[in-house]
Amino acid sequence: MKILGVCASPRKEKSTHAALQAALQAAAAVPEIETELIELAGKKFGGCLACGKCMKELTCSQDDDFTALLPTLADPALAGLIIASPVYFGGMTAQCKAFIDRCVPLRRNGFRLADKVGGAIAVGGVRNGGQELTISSIHAAMLVWDMVVVSDGRPTSHFGGTGFSGLQGGIESDEFGLATARGLGDRVARLAAKLHHQG
Ligand SMILES: Cc1cc2nc3c(=O)[nH]c(=O)nc-3n(C[C@H](O)[C@H](O)[C@H](O)COP(=O)(O)O)c2cc1C
Repeated sequence: MKILGVCASPRKEKSTHAALQAALQAAAAVPEIETELIELAGKKFGGCLACGKCMKELTCSQDDDFTALLPTLADPALAGLIIASPVYFGGMTAQCKAFIDRCVPLRRNGFRLADKVGGAIAVGGVRNGGQELTISSIHAAMLVWDMVVVSDGRPTSHFGGTGFSGLQGGIESDEFGLATARGLGDRVARLAAKLHHQG
């Protein structure tokens, strides 16, 4: 079974990617779990146009890089989803919101993300720059998709991965933030393995 990580920074392989990678490495250490990381950076797509084409089938009227991701997102082997966004003005990036809104065909065609385990990571330039708000709005979408939302697990067990890139040495020096990302990856994977075990 697979845990998919979606990195919603417009910058490739920067801080949010590093935090998501830490989470996915922890997830991959759980037996039976495979991971995949998708970066939205460089992908060309905009928001949902509300055309209604996806009302009856799992498709999208926009022929772009998001629509190409639909089969990966609808894969029955997907057991968990971690969305990671930088904090922009106290919230998620435009890329993250566009990604979330474009996932509407999955909900309209059988709630394809239902019962999958969901978690979120937010990375800000300052310690308290809106990470929890950003995570909460990602969680809101996951709840609307009927996913099972988890924290970063014990012992910290708060909102998910909360990273801080603005300190000397960048996110790699943010031991606390990276620990919450690893905790989240572990928690998502362990619960996904419990819920989706086929044996
Ligand atoms: C338009 C914009 C708005 C930002 N707003 C915030 C903010 O509200 N709070 C915060 O902590 N950091 C803010 N930042 C800083 C980014 O969250 C931070 O640099 C983050 O590490 C970027 O992620 P990345 O390195 O993966 O691209 C903002 C950056 C930009 C470009």
